[in-house]
Amino acid sequence: MDPEAFRVQARTSWERAAAGWEARGELIRRCALPVSAALVELARPHPGQRILEVAAGLGDTGLLAAERVRPGGEVLITDGAEAMVEAARRRVAESGADDVEVRPMEAEWLDLPVASVDAIVSRWGYMLLADPEAALREARRVLRPGGRIALAAWAPLEQNPWIGVLQGELLARGLAPQPEPGAPGMFALAPPGRVEGLLTDAGFEEIEVADVDFAWEAESLDAWWEHQLAVSVSLGQALAGLSPAEHHRLRDALDAGYAKYVAPGGTVRLPARARLAAASA
Ligand SMILES: C[S@@+](CC[C@H](N)C(=O)[O-])C[C@H]1O[C@@H](n2cnc3c(N)ncnc32)[C@H](O)[C@@H]1O
Repeated sequence: MDPEAFRVQARTSWERAAAGWEARGELIRRCALPVSAALVELARPHPGQRILEVAAGLGDTGLLAAERVRPGGEVLITDGAEAMVEAARRRVAESGADDVEVRPMEAEWLDLPVASVDAIVSRWGYMLLADPEAALREARRVLRPGGRIALAAWAPLEQNPWIGVLQGELLARGLAPQPEPGAPGMFALAPPGRVEGLLTDAGFEEIEVADVDFAWEAESLDAWWEHQLAVSVSLGQALAGLSPAEHHRLRDALDAGYAKYVAPGGTVRLPARARLAAASA
């Protein structure tokens, strides 16, 4: 992998994905709340503290953490994609929070002084980076001694049927590349010992890892499909060359794969398992 080419391509993708994430923001915030809540607990915020959210998207976790640093504290929500930052600014403005700032910032090059934040939270960011070790070293640099990092990645694909069913069908049809071990991606921090190793190498201590189960919910399988198309640029690209018949066959196969997660009334609850890690600087 050429890291620079990867960064450019990833940035372009996230800029394009931002509108979909904003449109679907409410569902993401609601369904993934157990993950954000667990991250905030692991970050151990106190009133008066300064919290940084990295690769924040719309800033769900940072906004939640803000409730724990009042009075007197502040939260800095950051993301590498300008369009995500703009979306997060709108979300923060709607929330009325005046102690939450939103700024563009690369996770691998945090534009902050040494020892300037008390805790870092990041949901589903670090596993996507070209160099997660460099990013975690940056995180440790900006944390005050003893400050906390709490990050969420994903447990292995087999434990995440919400994406496993889709991934399996795309792979079987040659519509998605075989994931390369060690490459950035949703499951890059899932292998046993991987996230612990990265945190240790970055100089963190008191490392703890725990999985959090939750469910993505949708009114129907059609609604779930629309959601996936809205948030995933790569899915749209994978489907671009399909004929209408191939598209229907894929949808039929996916609906069959997801059938056991559909309630009699048609609503869908897809099991998901996040892998959380926390440590002290
Ligand atoms: C899977 S989304 C998660 C968004 C949000 N944290 C959430 O949980 O809803 C990944 C986010 O990481 C951001 N991102 C990806 N690479 C980044 C980088 N190198 N530096 C900063 N942000 C990055 C993307 O723009 C995107 O908002």
